[in-house]
Amino acid sequence: MEITAGTLHLRPWSLTEADALVAALALRDPEIRRWATGSLEKADERAWLAQRVADWADGSSPSFAVADATSGEALGHVRVRVAGERGEVGYWVLPDARGRGVATRAVGVAGRWAFAFLGLSRLDLRHATGNAASCRVAAKNGFALTRLLSEPWWGGEGEETVEFHLHTLSSV
Ligand SMILES: CC(C)(COP(=O)(O)OP(=O)(O)OC[C@H]1O[C@@H](n2cnc3c(N)ncnc32)[C@H](O)[C@@H]1OP(=O)(O)O)[C@@H](O)C(=O)NCCC(=O)NCCS
Repeated sequence: MEITAGTLHLRPWSLTEADALVAALALRDPEIRRWATGSLEKADERAWLAQRVADWADGSSPSFAVADATSGEALGHVRVRVAGERGEVGYWVLPDARGRGVATRAVGVAGRWAFAFLGLSRLDLRHATGNAASCRVAAKNGFALTRLLSEPWWGGEGEETVEFHLHTLSSV
């Protein structure tokens, strides 16, 4: 599954990209480790890529490398966790690629794909309330702020309770 949308190309991650991920310090970036959900805390790059490939195999959580459509260079990551007709989108963008609309466009593309090809009726986007950039990504893609959640969170210095915004987008 590959999608080209303007200057972005969304494609599955490849196991051969471990060295590039290490070089880009993707899984070591403090902002990604602080805010992105999932298994970044303990996984190394090879294990992380193996998980992304496995995600496609069982269909539970398809994910894309968000790449530059011209160079093919990975700029970020977007993933849709699926539970029945509901999905939740998660994402990160490499530090050097931030501030250019990559996350906003990638979430839009992945969301439209999820509604069309996964048959979702609802897509959630959850972010810690301190993550202002993520709140903008949600708003710019038309996600409505539906709830304030208070949940345990592993913040790198131990487990703490963090407040989250739950944003929701419904299929039309
Ligand atoms: C959040 C993140 C994905 C945004 O990626 P990005 O490609 O830079 O985002 P965009 O360029 O699409 O910008 C989206 C909006 O966020 C705003 N923004 C970016 N950084 C910001 C910051 N530090 N504080 C406040 N707003 C910020 C941008 O100005 C833009 O809003 P605008 O159009 O109204 O100006 C990126 O910063 C990141 O990877 N962070 C670490 C991981 C993470 O937080 N993942 C999401 C978990 S829910």
